[in-house]
Amino acid sequence: MSEIEIRNLTKRFEGNGQTVEALRDIDLSIEKGDIFGIIGMSGAGKSTLVRCINYLEKPTQGKVLIDGVDLEDLNEKQLRKKRSEIGMIFQSFYLLEQKNALDNVCFPLEIAGMKKKQAREKARKLLETVGIGDKEKAYPSQLSGGQKQRVAIARALATEPKILLCDEATSALDPQTTKAILSLLKEINEKYGITIVIITHQMSVVSQICKKVAIIDNGALVEEGTVDEIFRSPQSDAARDLIFERKVRYIRNFEKNGEPAVV
Ligand SMILES: Nc1ncnc2c1ncn2[C@@H]1O[C@H](COP(=O)(O)OP(=O)(O)O)[C@@H](O)[C@H]1O
Ligand SMILES: [Mg+2]
Repeated sequence: MSEIEIRNLTKRFEGNGQTVEALRDIDLSIEKGDIFGIIGMSGAGKSTLVRCINYLEKPTQGKVLIDGVDLEDLNEKQLRKKRSEIGMIFQSFYLLEQKNALDNVCFPLEIAGMKKKQAREKARKLLETVGIGDKEKAYPSQLSGGQKQRVAIARALATEPKILLCDEATSALDPQTTKAILSLLKEINEKYGITIVIITHQMSVVSQICKKVAIIDNGALVEEGTVDEIFRSPQSDAARDLIFERKVRYIRNFEKNGEPAVV
């Protein structure tokens, strides 16, 4: 049994007399402990897919099973509990601007009913785990993008999720910071055995951290395999485009800075 199983998933949005088919007949299995990449161009359907994995969006057709449990069979309360096992981080961090780093991490713990003192202790440890133990009193506006994402990661880990979904989590960060955040995610994967799903439009992100990758193009899953396989012999136009785009960026960076850089 895979930890995440997506079966024949289709998602359509209806409105203003129009129908958008954001996802079409997606089949995907993600194993426990994997770092799995889902890559595609903007508008391909990645965010919709990630929102279907935790049922923030209900599929129009098809199923999502987490540890063998069909999310369709859960009531609201059971679904909330299941969601607490799935952490999420985003491109724009979504920190509470009026709370400092420590209180941002405490927030989900207090909502879950943990006592303030205990929540603070746990949050402090988490901030240390993500490498910003010294920033607990800083407000989001006083933190860099990378530090903000570290707070968001600590907050996502607070409820001890089994799965961490990362939707373009490094897309607002520069290449060096991206590299540091991806190493942190890898460390977390190894330390806690959390399954990590990396949603991105950048092949470089996938190549740095993922073992396996699925490519989504225009709502459909067009290719899936190990990162090595897809780099060696991409089968779909979408895969070739994504690899090509990376090469172009690499060359531009080389021309600009005169040295190979992470892109
Ligand atoms: N709530 C919504 N209502 C209508 N259309 C939507 C909604 N969410 C996403 N879409 C459409 O679904 C498609 C996929 O969007 P999205 O999943 O955000 O793509 P990605 O994350 O890959 O950029 C796009 O055409 C988008 O406009
Ligand atoms: Mg998106």
